[in-house]
Amino acid sequence: MTSVVNTARRARLGILISGRGSNMVALADAVHGGRIPNAEVSVVVSDQANAAGLAKAKERGIETLVIERRGRTHEEHDQEIVEALRARKIDLVCLAGYMRILSRGFIDAYRGRVLNIHPSLLPSFPGLDAQKQALEHGVKWTGCTVHFVDETLDGGPIILQRVVPVHPDDTVESLAARILEEEHQLYPEAVALVLENILELSAATTDDRRV
Ligand code: GAR
Repeated sequence: MTSVVNTARRARLGILISGRGSNMVALADAVHGGRIPNAEVSVVVSDQANAAGLAKAKERGIETLVIERRGRTHEEHDQEIVEALRARKIDLVCLAGYMRILSRGFIDAYRGRVLNIHPSLLPSFPGLDAQKQALEHGVKWTGCTVHFVDETLDGGPIILQRVVPVHPDDTVESLAARILEEEHQLYPEAVALVLENILELSAATTDDRRV
């Protein structure tokens, strides 16, 4: 793993959102409650000024930033986000309902240190409207996945998954709500697991406790 995590301090999480932010809240509350140990949520970044999640982050005393694209190229927009994350010495980036694909520059800057949560059992139903795709296919089970982000669309290495049943009378909304409940459990577990492994690797492989 190419990450730089200093075990002498708490890991610094940066969470990217575009909307409601319920997974961001689940992560922030898990950090606060000690279920993600030795970590802090240092910043929440939204690409949408009206994202409802921004107020929820502020209520929790977390710094928020709105970084909109505003006519710039994808790379320029992502570069500003990367600079904001670097300025805050972010160790791990968590996409939480962030509805943009990351540019190559972003992925290179934080390779192996960006996680995403997706509302299906990947590799089934990547991309938009995963719950609708599941209903249209008639699957009886779906779920959610936390994975590392790479250049592929929802195709990076899988960290954890949770299975959710599809009921015969499900609508997109009822299925999404059932999956979301599991997402809120799964994402904190996955972040804790990744941080634990980064820290173990860091402690085991270097004298100055850095990788
Ligand atoms: C969540 O269901 C998340 O898995 C999904 O958007 C929702 C965001 O909700 N993400 C994707 O579909 C990414 N491809 P939230 O803003 O309340 O966390």
